Amino acid sequence: MPSVMIIGASRGIGLGFAEAYAAADGWEVHATTRTIDAPGALGQVAGNVTLHALDVTDADQINQLALAFADRDLDLLIHNAGVYGTGMSRDEVLTINAEAPFNVINALLPAVKRSGEKKLAILTSHMGSRNGGPTPSNVYGASKAALNDRYREVEPQWRERGIKSVIFHPGWVQTDMGGAGASVPVADSVRGMRRILSSLRSDEYGKFLDWQGNEVPW
Ligand SMILES: NC(=O)c1ccc[n+]([C@@H]2O[C@H](COP(=O)([O-])OP(=O)(O)OC[C@H]3O[C@@H](n4cnc5c(N)ncnc54)[C@H](OP(=O)(O)O)[C@@H]3O)[C@@H](O)[C@H]2O)c1
Repeated sequence: MPSVMIIGASRGIGLGFAEAYAAADGWEVHATTRTIDAPGALGQVAGNVTLHALDVTDADQINQLALAFADRDLDLLIHNAGVYGTGMSRDEVLTINAEAPFNVINALLPAVKRSGEKKLAILTSHMGSRNGGPTPSNVYGASKAALNDRYREVEPQWRERGIKSVIFHPGWVQTDMGGAGASVPVADSVRGMRRILSSLRSDEYGKFLDWQGNEVPW
């Protein structure tokens, strides 16, 4: 039975991933939320779903999650949590979007490495592209650029350990972050990224891809 862990699954794209994998045959779904006592829609997802408490900035919670998977496998780890940062300090946005993903991933990497599939995906944005993306304008783009930079630095080491990974621009998606005017329904974005992940080719490892599989310039 393949297993997936979705980091930041309370709503939006993360919830969409949880719903899609839970509905797919045979998947064991692990989903994290900051609000485990009131999980909302995530608590209603039918299937083989286990919820875990995680604020990605909380080192104790990261350790607890890693301990829970100390002798378990994760075929696929999706780091989806992120903030646009309205009303937040620059430091907070950089911590959540650019630093926390690596703390969470490094803690769970042994579980991914033990698995059959050994796959990993991170959600970034084309606003972090510095060569063809939108003109840099705010801390959100800067945080995703920093995320991309660090990913490019560590990905070769992950690959040496057998981890197959990719970093995604999910499209402009109809979520709280993307807004109602966004062009891509959550289900379409999730379907596109799941399709890419299910047949990830070696020439795609370490790439910045959009939800339709097009390469995005760094
Ligand atoms: N929507 C778009 O158009 C778009 C475009 C490009 C990239 N992205 C990226 O795609 C990812 C998902 O975006 P979305 O549109 O689904 O956003 P969203 O609707 O705002 O949902 C964000 C998710 O991240 C979680 N999260 C935020 N801070 C967290 C923290 N400190 N610890 C744990 N979880 C945290 C939220 O949990 P809570 O419910 O607890 O706040 C929520 O589950 C993000 O990385 C985003 O940057 C989105």
